[in-house]
Amino acid sequence: MSSVQPPVVQLVQAGFAYEDGPPVFDGIDFAVPEGRAMALLGRNGSGKTTLMRLLSGGLQCRSGALRLAGEEVAYDRRGLTRLRTTVQLVLQDPDDQLFAASVGQDVSFGPLNLGLPEDEVRLRVREALEALDITALEDRPTHLLSYGQRKRAAIAGAVAMRPRVLILDEPTAGLDPHGQERLLEVLGRLRDTGTTVVMATHDVDLALRWADDAAVLSPTGLRTGPIEELLADDALLAAARLRRPWGMAVTRLLREQGLLPEDVPGPRTAEELDAWAETAQGTHRPTG
Ligand SMILES: Nc1ncnc2c1ncn2[C@@H]1O[C@H](COP(=O)(O)OP(=O)(O)OP(=O)(O)O)[C@@H](O)[C@H]1O
Ligand SMILES: [Mg+2]
Repeated sequence: MSSVQPPVVQLVQAGFAYEDGPPVFDGIDFAVPEGRAMALLGRNGSGKTTLMRLLSGGLQCRSGALRLAGEEVAYDRRGLTRLRTTVQLVLQDPDDQLFAASVGQDVSFGPLNLGLPEDEVRLRVREALEALDITALEDRPTHLLSYGQRKRAAIAGAVAMRPRVLILDEPTAGLDPHGQERLLEVLGRLRDTGTTVVMATHDVDLALRWADDAAVLSPTGLRTGPIEELLADDALLAAARLRRPWGMAVTRLLREQGLLPEDVPGPRTAEELDAWAETAQGTHRPTG
């Protein structure tokens, strides 16, 4: 069959304004490419959180539509349940998301609410805790966890819903470098097992090495595309007031010096730069 599958979740000509506020979006189109990792970038107040809440149904567009697999989402109980079993949002602050007494109770809340049988709920909770590497925290009171542990517990709650699309609002903010690396590994594993992951972040270096695609919010609108392409666009970076990623600067320099052929991807991390330097005059692709 040659018919193209509609995007798993998509905003079509979506307009939105908060009460008494100016429009945040005025007719934007945004489709989440399935099975990929996407970084959502933009300065403070550019609308990242608003966009994520529109995609996950926490906010409703004033004009235009939200579509799930090509079908317009109805904001009734049935429509929202369908949306929430497909798209899950993890809020930036875990304390806005966690409310049950223990980690296990919190993670089981969503599946229980779907009316799933007890065995199924237990299985999902176990899987989600394992995926986030917090099985040992199951019986711990959420309010006694460290910030990084609370972040993981909040993500586990979303993962237990087995969403096709997992959206995370600045999930690495507030984590130490080791915690960031471990979270990126977790998100990488989820992506490898078929979950589409969308992450809002202010960290362009992290975005460059983690994501396949970027969505960049700027006063000129929303641009989406392969991340290496978008983050190499100086005009776009300036409009969005984003820094040029370190990896892009190094890659440009190496190419200008004739050290890195156009068809060889540039290093995105210090480790990749080291690996590149160790290969014969950098004629091989740096190993990640
Ligand atoms: N609850 C709210 N009520 C009114 N206006 C809001 C509300 N939340 C956000 N806004 C406004 O909507 C716009 C987009 O905000 P949003 O929180 O989506 O930006 P953001 O890109 O997530 O920013 P940040 O990087 O600071 O998290 C801003 O102008 C903001 O002031
Ligand atoms: Mg935000």
